[in-house]
Amino acid sequence: MADVQYVQWISKPAMGGEVVHGMKTGRKLGFPTANLSQSPDSIENGVYGVQVQIEDELLNGVMNIGVKPTFGSRFERITEIHLFDFQGDLYGKKIQCVPLFRIRDEQKFSSFHSLLQQIKEDVNYARTVFSRHGAVQRQRIS
Ligand SMILES: Cc1cc2nc3c(=O)[nH]c(=O)nc-3n(C[C@H](O)[C@H](O)[C@H](O)COP(=O)(O)O)c2cc1C
Repeated sequence: MADVQYVQWISKPAMGGEVVHGMKTGRKLGFPTANLSQSPDSIENGVYGVQVQIEDELLNGVMNIGVKPTFGSRFERITEIHLFDFQGDLYGKKIQCVPLFRIRDEQKFSSFHSLLQQIKEDVNYARTVFSRHGAVQRQRIS
């Protein structure tokens, strides 16, 4: 995985959307995700470090945008965001998400276990990038 000292910041428009229900397997695995109703063409499939605005708060997290190839070929393109240290019900809420850096391509894993290991690495990597760059995990804006 890329070195946190040489982060390639990306500049993509904010993605807006409403949080919709997913399959909820992520929650059982310990990384609950908020699924977004929109997956814009302006961003390629892959895993990203993101900043998300929910009402008057900014939070950091990781986002996967793609078709979840590990689970077969039946899925439409979807945006899923895992917010760090967040517990709460976001269903039906409108959120804004800004992709800040790209972590990797979306991949088809041979087992659920390897996908889970990779997601843990994605989370560690993104958390390190945020903290090295002084990003506060949760901040109120007004
Ligand atoms: C950070 C992150 C990275 C992910 N990377 C992949 C991936 O490379 N390949 C894949 O098939 N699914 C990937 N996923 C999607 C997971 O498969 C998905 O979150 C899980 O199946 C739960 O979906 P559900 O909440 O709709 O049930 C990723 C999810 C997250 C949050």
